[in-house]
Amino acid sequence: MNIFAMETSCDETSAAVVSNGSNVKSVVISSQIKIHAKFFGVVPELASRAHVENVNQAIFQTLTQAGIDFDDFSKKIDAVAFTVGPGLAGALLVGAIAAKSIASVYKKPLIPINHLEGHLYSYFIESKFVNPPFLSVVISGGHTELIIVEDFGKYKVLGGTRDDAAGEAFDKAAKMLGLSYPGGPVIDKMAEKGNPKAVKFTRPYLKGSWDFSFSGIKTALLNYLKSNPVENEKKLNDVCASFRQAIVETIIFKAFEATRQFNLKQIVLGGGVSANSLMRKMFKDTGKKNKIKIFIPSPVYCTDNAAMIGCAAYLKQKKCGLNYSLAQLKSSPSLVLENW
Ligand code: KG4
Ligand code: ZN
Repeated sequence: MNIFAMETSCDETSAAVVSNGSNVKSVVISSQIKIHAKFFGVVPELASRAHVENVNQAIFQTLTQAGIDFDDFSKKIDAVAFTVGPGLAGALLVGAIAAKSIASVYKKPLIPINHLEGHLYSYFIESKFVNPPFLSVVISGGHTELIIVEDFGKYKVLGGTRDDAAGEAFDKAAKMLGLSYPGGPVIDKMAEKGNPKAVKFTRPYLKGSWDFSFSGIKTALLNYLKSNPVENEKKLNDVCASFRQAIVETIIFKAFEATRQFNLKQIVLGGGVSANSLMRKMFKDTGKKNKIKIFIPSPVYCTDNAAMIGCAAYLKQKKCGLNYSLAQLKSSPSLVLENW
């Protein structure tokens, strides 16, 4: 089954053609980083406008790379999937209108996908499907979630972000340190050269809860910088390494605690922060020690992309078919994870 997928929930305009959930025929990801970098975060109105500007080209390029022209579309594509939420309202609407227009012109069924489910299943884009049950750790700019996937489309959400998500904490820390946006990749790079023990940031484990709270570490960094200005590159690298270590250790501790308590043997990562090099290494090393299998997408599929939406859509239609109500197809900025 060939699915044409669109993702426009935040600041990437992305389209993809995915065959049977795991064979990416083409994917185009048009980033808006340059537009938002000077504001150190995504400006919703600018994001919507940039999606409108980029969406046609993303669609044409994707189809061209997949060897499909508009005359072939009907023959070669079976369904159109798109992200319905959560995300920025205007941004979601651009992807929705593009997907709905294509689907109505070519009389194709539409498959609505929750952005979180895209991240949750993104490992499968390039690899065999991992059989549930597994613990899904979705760590991105908007989410830090621990979810037990009992079956495809059957979720038990253990906990999530109480304030700043992991990626948001990296982005805000980078701004405080005078680094560029997005902060996660920059801090990751500098941290590689620093000493993770140089600054002792407390780990917000929130014992007794599966939730995450990273706003405290961010404030601790702000207070530290007030009395310890970073005056050279070595010190900057040390602060980045210490900050990264605190975030990664907190997530690792809670994720492995969840596997113990719920007797899970597999962890699947997803979301932009799973591109973090220490996160990847520590998950793999801790997994080996604890005999837990760890599955992490390639960095390109950790951050937002439409291939993950095509992959999730394939799994969803296998279980739910191809008929969705108008309510299910409605864009919803605060959409929560729902069972199929
Ligand atoms: O999944 P994503 O592309 O968008 C959301 O759904 O939010 O994640 C973007 C987030 C940003 O906050 C970015 O700083 C973070 O992922 N990120 C990283 C790394 N690469 C991207 N954080 C830490 N280390 C990285 N290497
Ligand atoms: Zn995302």
